[in-house]
This record gives sequence, C-alpha cells and structure tokens, in this order.
Amino acid sequence: MRTQVAIVGAGPAGLTLAQLLHVEGIDSVVIENRSREYVEARIRAGVLEQGVVDLLTAAGVGERMAREGLVHEGIELQFAGERHRIDLKTLTSGKTITVYGQTEIVKDLINTRLASGRPLLFEVDDVHLDGIDSDRPCVRFSHQGTTHELDCDVIAGCDGFHGVCRPTIPARVLRTFTREYPFGWLGILANVAPSNDELIYASHDRGFALLSMRSPQISRLYVQCRPGEDIADWPDNRIWEELHTRLEIPGWTLAEGRVLEKGITPMRSFVAEPMRHGRLFLTGDAAHIVPPTGAKGLNLAVRDVQLLAEALTVWLRHGSETLLDAYSTSCLRRVWRAEHFSWWMTTMLHTLDDGDPFAVRLQESQLRYVVSSGPAATSLAENYVGFD
Ligand code: FAD
Ligand code: DHB
Repeated sequence: MRTQVAIVGAGPAGLTLAQLLHVEGIDSVVIENRSREYVEARIRAGVLEQGVVDLLTAAGVGERMAREGLVHEGIELQFAGERHRIDLKTLTSGKTITVYGQTEIVKDLINTRLASGRPLLFEVDDVHLDGIDSDRPCVRFSHQGTTHELDCDVIAGCDGFHGVCRPTIPARVLRTFTREYPFGWLGILANVAPSNDELIYASHDRGFALLSMRSPQISRLYVQCRPGEDIADWPDNRIWEELHTRLEIPGWTLAEGRVLEKGITPMRSFVAEPMRHGRLFLTGDAAHIVPPTGAKGLNLAVRDVQLLAEALTVWLRHGSETLLDAYSTSCLRRVWRAEHFSWWMTTMLHTLDDGDPFAVRLQESQLRYVVSSGPAATSLAENYVGFD
C-alpha cells in the first residue's frame, strides 16, 4: 500500500486531518486500533471554540453541528454560594462557544470520511512506524489477519496520549513536561434537561463541580474526586448528593435524571517537544494533555491539524518545507498558552488536597478579582473562547 499521509488514530485529530487533506485533494489512509462502535461511543469533550466550529464548517462537516449545537454567549463562575456570569461574547467582541459532543463530531467525521471513499480502517493491530528519519517512512500493521506495509511521505501521529507514535521518537530528542494533579473528575451523562442555560463552574469546600450539557434533554455533570478512585464506590445517589451540595444556591435546585454513563478521568498536564521528528508529526493528545477545566483538549487537537494540513498542502503542492519546519514551534506557542490557562482554571477552582487555608484565601481572592475586574474577566474570556 502507498499513500501520501499515513494517519495513525481516528479520534478528532486524525479524522479532522483526513478531511482537511481530502478537501485539498491529498491522499491519506487512517488506521485506528479500536472498533467504530467504541470510538463513536467514547464520551468526552463538549465545548468548541468559535474558530474550531468555523474550521469544521469550512471543511464540510458542520451541517448537523449547526442544527444541533448549542451556541453559548457566557459561562457562570460560582463560589462562596454566589454565581457570577462571564459574558464571553461582550468581552471578546462577539465570539461565542458551541456545546456539541465530541462523540457527535467523531460520528460526523466518520460518516464524511466513509462517503469520500478514502480508506479508514478500524480494529488494526501491531502498529509500528519505520524510517521516520528517512524520506521513505512506513507504517506496518495487521488488519483482519493480514499484515500490511503502508509506504507514505509523512506519518501523522494522531493516536492520543497512550499511542505508539510519540514513543517512536528517540528519547534523546524528546523533552517532556508533566504535572499530575491530586484529584480527578467523575463525569456523568444524565437523561434530564440541563438545570441551567449556561455552564456553571463551581468552587466548593467539598470540591469542584461543573454543570454542562449535550442537548436540551441531556445534562453532562462533573464532580472533583480523588485520583484513582473506583467508580464502584460512587453509586448514583452519592454522585447526585455531591452535585446538589456543590452546585445548589438559594433559589436554584438541580434536577436529577437517569444516569446514562459515568466514568473517572485523571487530571494531568503534559507537553512533548518538539512535535515533529523527521517525517513524523505529532498532533493532539499524542503531543499534549491539559486538565479539562479550560475545555481546551479537543480544541487544541483540531488547531494542530489545521496547521499540519496547511503545511502539508504547501509542501506536497509546491515543494516548500517552510510551514512544515515551523509546525512544531507554531503549535507549541498555542499549546503552552492553553497549558497555562488550563492549569490556572484548575488551581483556581479545585480544592487542593492539603486544604491549606492560605491557598484557599488566595483562590477566593483570585475568583473575586476575575468576576469584578473587567481586564481580569476579559483575560479569562479570551482564553476560553480561544485565539485565532
Ligand atoms: P484521541 O481522542 O485520544 O484519539 C486518538 C485515537 O487514536 C483513539 O481513537 C485511539 O483509539 C487511537 N489509537 C491509540 N493507539 C493507537 C494505535 N496504536 N494505533 C491506531 N490507533 C490508535 N477537550 C476540550 O476541548 N473540551 C472539553 O470540554 C473537554 N472535556 C473533556 C472531558 C473528559 C472527561 C475527557 C476525558 C477529555 C476532555 N477533553 C476536552 C479532551 C479531549 O477529549 C481530547 O483532548 C481529545 O479527544 C483529543 O483528540 P485526539 O484525536 O488528539 O486524541
Ligand atoms: C465539558 C467538559 C469540560 O472539560 C469543560 O471545561 C466544559 C464542559 C463537557 O463535557 O461538556
């Protein structure tokens, strides 16, 4: 087999890259080690920056998102039992966010890919990269009992944090930066209309909580928990109890519904530099992880592949490597901004494990500053809606 771009991983990064290249008439093969059903059912992110919505729309995958996505003009920050609105739209000269599940984006991208007739292989095994230092890289894998060698011009490593692409880069050239947080998020999807029109990010003595949604009928809710907790220790009534305690304020109650899905996510910051080695280009979670508090992970993944698609188009059409050479540096500038914002939101809103009273007072002061100072609120808003 031969293609121009071998894409490892069919998450948001790999599938979006495949579509952006298809629009430019560039050939790719996407290989994914999970089944289509698994990839389409994985509940994850929900908040899209305006620029990401615009990109997906321009790439021809925005039709259902335009119909079903929920456009939000603000978010609410809650602390000391009070709610404060951050007016994203006013503070950013008109930018909004769209609430549309990652699962739905992935379904739309898979349908579009399959309709294009270009290859997308699920349930591949034994993926190995060869020759990333040469100008003839190759991806070996097995699929339905047959071994394949996929020769290509470049490999896009879109295989997430636990993938095989990043470890292919020699340790001597890869520098990694990590921060683990002493807590995780327990998330549920519930069959109940969202109790609020906008997202609520709540700081509470018992820990952070977040109210989000997927549709006018489905709520998405999170509570801060300890890292490595067993979901079996969280029966539904315990989750609802924590959500009521952390989110409710006088005059506002949280409506309960049947829990459709629940899971625990660890919280981590991670960056690998550089995001390119030879003919291998890392994108999305394969290169960086942010804690979810800033809603940046999916958005960063799409922004990476936007740059990569542009750079590959120029190179494959005109032979110029200038944009490819700039890829890692250009991505990392945005990545580190998002790393800082996500770390800042996380440390401002979560109870830190030792409950240090000094840290608690600092958090409260920071929250008061953000909701009472125009420049501070603008800083949060412009980071949250994303930079174009
Ligand atoms: P992934 O989605 O991880 O996709 C990688 C793909 O590669 C997977 O399909 C995987 O199966 C496949 N793969 C792995 N290994 C191999 C292999 N060896 N061969 C072939 N394929 C392989 N981000 C936001 O922007 N906003 C949010 O609101 C938000 N909320 C989140 C909430 C939760 C609970 C979680 C867990 C994450 C959240 N994120 C959010 C982060 C976001 O989901 C990720 O950043 C996003 O999925 C990254 O996309 P990706 O394509 O880079 O990686
Ligand atoms: C959602 C996830 C986030 O990480 C976030 O900051 C906001 C919303 C969500 O899943 O809806």
